[in-house]
Amino acid sequence: MEFQEVVRRRRMVRAFRPDPVPGDVVDLLLDNATHAPSAGFTQGWAFLVLTKPADRARFWDAAWPPDERDGSRREEVMSAPLIVVCYSSKRRYLERYAEPDKGWTDRDESRWPAPFWDIDAGFAALLMLLTAVDRGLGGLFFGLQHHRRVASAFGVPDDHRAIGALAIGYPAPDEPSPSLRRGRRPVAEVAHFDRW
Ligand SMILES: Cc1cc2nc3c(=O)[nH]c(=O)nc-3n(C[C@H](O)[C@H](O)[C@H](O)COP(=O)(O)O)c2cc1C
Repeated sequence: MEFQEVVRRRRMVRAFRPDPVPGDVVDLLLDNATHAPSAGFTQGWAFLVLTKPADRARFWDAAWPPDERDGSRREEVMSAPLIVVCYSSKRRYLERYAEPDKGWTDRDESRWPAPFWDIDAGFAALLMLLTAVDRGLGGLFFGLQHHRRVASAFGVPDDHRAIGALAIGYPAPDEPSPSLRRGRRPVAEVAHFDRW
C-alpha cells in the first residue's frame, strides 16, 4: 500500500473478525516497532504480546473488569485476536542520559522537557498501527485505567509503565467514535508559519 494511503486509511478500529493475525504479521508489527526513533537511541520500550485466547481473557479481566462493563458496543473491542500492551521504562532513559556522551549524571528529571520515554513508546505504537493498516488489518490504541492489575496479572516489572495497549485484527463493522463529531482541526488552525 502507498504510504499516503496507509496514513489516510488509518482510523481506530473497535470491532474485529475472529481470524487470527498471521504470525509473520505479528513479527512484522513488532519488528517495525523497534524501528521507531528514540531519544539517545535508548529504545526504552517493551511490549506484552497476547495472542492466546486465555491470555487475552486474562488481560481483559484485569484491564476492564466485568463489573465495569456496560454491555454496549464498546465491548466489541474484546474480539481483537491480538493485544500488544506498550510499555516505557523511564529508568532506561535516566541511565542512558547519565552516560558520558549525554552527561546528565545527576539523573535529575527536571532536565527533561517532555517524557521522552513515553513519546518513544508512542512512536512505536503508531508504527504498529500503520503496519497493521498496510497489511489489511486495523487497530485501536487505548489507555489502561487498570494498568497495575494488568502488570500483576502478567508479571510486568515495576520499572515499566503501560502507556496504553493496542487491539489489532481484521476490521469488522464498528461504530465510529462520538469524538469524531468534533471534526479534524484544519492545518491553518494548528500550524503557525513564521511566528505564532
Ligand atoms: C493516547 C490515546 C488514547 C486513546 N484512548 C482511547 C480509548 O481509551 N478508547 C477509545 O475508544 N479510543 C481511544 N483513543 C482513540 C481516539 O479516540 C481516536 O484516535 C480519535 O478519536 C481520532 O480517531 P481516529 O484515530 O480513528 O482518526 C485513544 C487515542 C490516543 C492517541
